[in-house]
Amino acid sequence: MDVRFDFTNKTVVVFGGTTGINLAIAEAFAGAGARVAVASRKPDNVDAAVARITQSGGDARGFVADVRDFESVAAAFAGVRAEWGTVDVLVSGAAGNFLAEVNSLSPNGFKVVVDIDLIGTFNVMRAGFEHLASGASVLNITAPQATIPMRYQAHVCAAKAGVDQLTRVLALEWGSRNIRVNAIAPGPISGTEGLERLTPTDDPGGDTAMMSVPLGRLGTKQDIASLAMFLSSSAASYISGAVIPCDGGGAIDSVKSGIEEAGRSLAAASKADS
Ligand code: COA
Ligand code: NAP
Repeated sequence: MDVRFDFTNKTVVVFGGTTGINLAIAEAFAGAGARVAVASRKPDNVDAAVARITQSGGDARGFVADVRDFESVAAAFAGVRAEWGTVDVLVSGAAGNFLAEVNSLSPNGFKVVVDIDLIGTFNVMRAGFEHLASGASVLNITAPQATIPMRYQAHVCAAKAGVDQLTRVLALEWGSRNIRVNAIAPGPISGTEGLERLTPTDDPGGDTAMMSVPLGRLGTKQDIASLAMFLSSSAASYISGAVIPCDGGGAIDSVKSGIEEAGRSLAAASKADS
């Protein structure tokens, strides 16, 4: 069954929305009739994203902003407000990632990811609140690392766990203002910077990532964009404070695999004792 969303006359703002998954979210809302603003650090990325959305017939504006810099985030919101009024959908998805064990992470290497992912999300939420319309939908883009500990990912695990809890606290605090706050946790998504950075160099097709997905395929950017539109639609008007995996079942499989592995080693140890 095909589902069509209509966001005509709605204003959508996507931080980190100039490439990858977040750009796909921005494009999907624009395709559904929304006015869409995208913001990120690099002017070339901002210009290219705006051109891409506009060429497809969308109404787009771009802002150069670093989510680590509260003033630049606030200025982007002020620009959107001046032109389009209050914000109906706010997406916070800027992130950084690289593989590094704790013992090879400098304090600044740990901090840079926490600054972008977690402090950046706080800045977007804090600066954005006064511009949100009643009935607004707020979406934070988190990751499976928030709940599944992973080697080489201490910085991301810590930062995204914070994003999940911030999402839940904001749902508590903003519910009475008729604002819903949810998070999306994508699984491995094909054709993205995030997946490329976590894929072994001898596995360019992402087969290793696919093995942990019960549905047997990598996700698409459209999978995530569709969930973002659903969560921001009237069909989801009673959903708030939820962190929703969109991962083909990967999160439950990883947890299951870990427990099963622990069970196997316990069984092997008790067999050795007897
Ligand atoms: N291993 C270990 N440390 C690393 C690293 C790596 N692969 N890459 C960066 N760092 C460390 C740097 O050495 C530096 O620490 P230092 O000052 O002690 O030397 C610190 O991280 C900051 O690096 P810097 O390059 O100055 O940060 P930046 O602000 O320019 O860029 C990053 C931020 C590092 C996260 C960069 O990868 C980025 O811009 N990523 C955005 C895109 C992305 O990651 N997409 C995937 C999203 S899931
Ligand atoms: P991506 O293409 O690298 O997207 C990251 C975006 O954030 C870029 O537009 C980047 O643009 C922007 N950005 C980075 N640092 C910023 C900063 N300090 N201030 C403002 N903008 C900043 O990565 P992606 O793979 O699509 O990931 C998007 C989101 O999905 C992230 O939140 C990631 O954690 C999450 N996720 C991805 C996957 C996956 O498989 N790809 C899986 C789970 C979760 P500039 O460089 O111009 O700033």
